[in-house]
Amino acid sequence: MSKADPCKNLHITTFGCQMNVYDSERLAGLLSAQGYRRVEDINSADLIILNTCSVRQRAEHKVYSFLGGLKELKKDKPRLLIGVGGCVAQQEGKRLLEDIPHLDFVFGTRVLERVPELLADAAAGRRRALTPLEEVQSVPGPLLLARPGLKSLVTVMHGCNNFCAYCVVPYVRGRERSRPAEDVLQEVAALAEAGAKEVTLLGQNVNSYRDPATGLDFPGLLARVAELESVLRIRFTTSHPKDLSPGLMEAMAGIPHVMEELHLPVQAGSDRVLKAMNRGYTRAQYLGKVAELKKRVPSVALGSDMIVGFPGETEEDFQQSLSILRAVGYDYLYSFKYSDRPFTKASRLADKLPDTVKAERLGRLQALQREISLALHKELVGQVEEVLVEGPAKKGEGLMTGRSRAGRAVNFPGPLDLTGRLVKVIIKEGHVNSLKGRLWPPDEGE
Ligand code: 5AD
Ligand code: SF4
Repeated sequence: MSKADPCKNLHITTFGCQMNVYDSERLAGLLSAQGYRRVEDINSADLIILNTCSVRQRAEHKVYSFLGGLKELKKDKPRLLIGVGGCVAQQEGKRLLEDIPHLDFVFGTRVLERVPELLADAAAGRRRALTPLEEVQSVPGPLLLARPGLKSLVTVMHGCNNFCAYCVVPYVRGRERSRPAEDVLQEVAALAEAGAKEVTLLGQNVNSYRDPATGLDFPGLLARVAELESVLRIRFTTSHPKDLSPGLMEAMAGIPHVMEELHLPVQAGSDRVLKAMNRGYTRAQYLGKVAELKKRVPSVALGSDMIVGFPGETEEDFQQSLSILRAVGYDYLYSFKYSDRPFTKASRLADKLPDTVKAERLGRLQALQREISLALHKELVGQVEEVLVEGPAKKGEGLMTGRSRAGRAVNFPGPLDLTGRLVKVIIKEGHVNSLKGRLWPPDEGE
């Protein structure tokens, strides 16, 4: 950057999971040290970065159509630089540069810290794609803070070794690697110092976290994070059911700072499909762990992911997916139509289902889940919940919004200056995706 240009505008659009959100934050921090400030308005950007997701076909399509839309902008502003990172970048590498002439650089999931170098080359007209998976410096050190918020994300491990038959993640994020616990703790402390009240520890499978030097496991890490007193709340995601350990249940039950929320993706309800998916557990084993957890943490809210229309899924298999929703009583569910992904075992299976069948099953699954969520949330009416206030609600005049310990969105009338505080709210209404209530106890005279 020339001296005449003290500050340039950076726009980042993030697709996909919280890992990508975290990486975008780090990238913004890294580039702020290069004189870039982050802007929302894409038209005013000097540098546009897309942080991409390839976990499902639709996510990947979105990236291509977004990129297509940038062609005109680049024509109008020839000095604009455009970079693509994340999972599509890792998957496609230099093919992206070949296919998209208005793209300037491509970086994979493990080389964030080399973006400044790619940027300098791009500015000099050298278009490069850098996508090695097994780089030594690929486990990032402490965060360069860009925009610390009330709620912050901290990645504790990268990659995945599970190779579920449908999933591209192990191919685009590489093998599992845990960050040193000291790095994680340092980062959480810095975020807390900057005002974060809640941290979510991230990994594809946090249960297999192991500190590379000391062997500290995930429940141990939770205990260490909980020692940092200014952090009021700790959440974590995602947990693989096969690795959900008694130690983790114990940590959830015993550490007050660890919230009663668990994302425990089941993916399918029938043993046949679970086996074909290579999930490593049976329906009975899954339900057994859920029962154990509910015994130890009665107020726990469970969330899940489900795929419908995996190759060969019969109506009977699907019925078992429906029935496991009721058997568990999930608070929320992310559900998807199966789609073929590159490199995966499932993409080479026969018996693919037509889209009409997948769409119809997805509709039934989602309708049932809405019913379950609504019934669960209505049961909470009359209960007093501890809420971390995040600010004004998007919908509803004068309403503030926050999350309960179990992670449910709670809206209630209240003053703006409650933002960032823990309050008590008595629940008056339960909806599919949120709760509504009033501050508790009510002000005198009310
Ligand atoms: N097709 C459909 N859904 C998928 N997911 C992962 N791979 C696929 C695929 N090929 C879903 C899983 C996972 C979530 C992040 O995305 O449910 O938990
Ligand atoms: Fe994909 Fe399975 Fe790893 Fe999750 S556990 S990221 S679904 S391979």
